[in-house]
Amino acid sequence: MDRLSGKIALITGGSSGIGLETAKLFAKEGAFVFITGRRQAELEKAVAGIGSNAKGIRGDIANLGDLDRLFEEIKEVKGRLDILFANAGLGEFAPLGTITEAHFDKTFGVNVRGTLFTVQKALPLMGEGSAIVLNASIAAIKGTPAFSVYAATKAAIRSFARGWSVDLRDRKIRVNVVSPGTVPTPAYDGFGMTEDQMAGFLKGHSDVAPVGRVGLPSEIAEAVLFLASDKSSFVNGAELFVDGGFAQV
Ligand SMILES: NC(=O)c1ccc[n+]([C@@H]2O[C@H](COP(=O)([O-])OP(=O)(O)OC[C@H]3O[C@@H](n4cnc5c(N)ncnc54)[C@H](OP(=O)(O)O)[C@@H]3O)[C@@H](O)[C@H]2O)c1
Repeated sequence: MDRLSGKIALITGGSSGIGLETAKLFAKEGAFVFITGRRQAELEKAVAGIGSNAKGIRGDIANLGDLDRLFEEIKEVKGRLDILFANAGLGEFAPLGTITEAHFDKTFGVNVRGTLFTVQKALPLMGEGSAIVLNASIAAIKGTPAFSVYAATKAAIRSFARGWSVDLRDRKIRVNVVSPGTVPTPAYDGFGMTEDQMAGFLKGHSDVAPVGRVGLPSEIAEAVLFLASDKSSFVNGAELFVDGGFAQV
């Protein structure tokens, strides 16, 4: 039960959904976990749920000043980072024909630019044997209506992992990707669907997945734990789909 004993981890977007479940699991497995998010109240609630081995640091990954403050604080408190789960991200719907500059800039600004600078600014704190896990999505390899900008950001994330695992070869830092399938989280509240529409959406996705259902945040957390721990020491530059088979068949 101590697969992360003594490790220091950072999970961006650790106050909700997949990030929060992963933070709970990491702490249970012996890690000290820093979590981030933009909303202070959500962060405090999350830290209380994770336990004494957690600290919340408020910040927006799209803001480079916030990222600088984040890593300064981690350096001050713990001096190093062994695991980075770059998880914070957003997805909004906009069919081609209605895509605005603001939609593009917001989605790429958080998911791509924010993830890139999160990882780059974390590197000075990360030593040999560290692990980076990026959160992409099955959306990157599927055509989902009105979701093309989000999908493109997640394709970029997958590509980053290939390039960065090579760039970090000499430092012996592994970079892998987890690609979740359909996993209801508080993010789904922002999709603007009625209860009936959401039920239909989830049923449709359950029917397509060979496993016959949608996923739980805790199921993604288990995969992230594997990629973050030394158990995956020979896994590098890879993408692990955790989607009940939705995008695999
Ligand atoms: N749920 C799914 O079905 C699914 C599938 C594939 C991939 N993913 C990916 O999984 C990741 C987490 O999604 P989720 O479903 O767990 O969403 P969620 O429950 O809405 O959680 C998102 C977390 O990220 C934080 N966050 C959002 N924007 C941020 C920013 N700019 N800077 C810092 N923190 C930010 C949120 O806190 P604040 O709002 O307080 O900032 C929250 O803690 C995302 O990258 C998403 O694309 C999700």
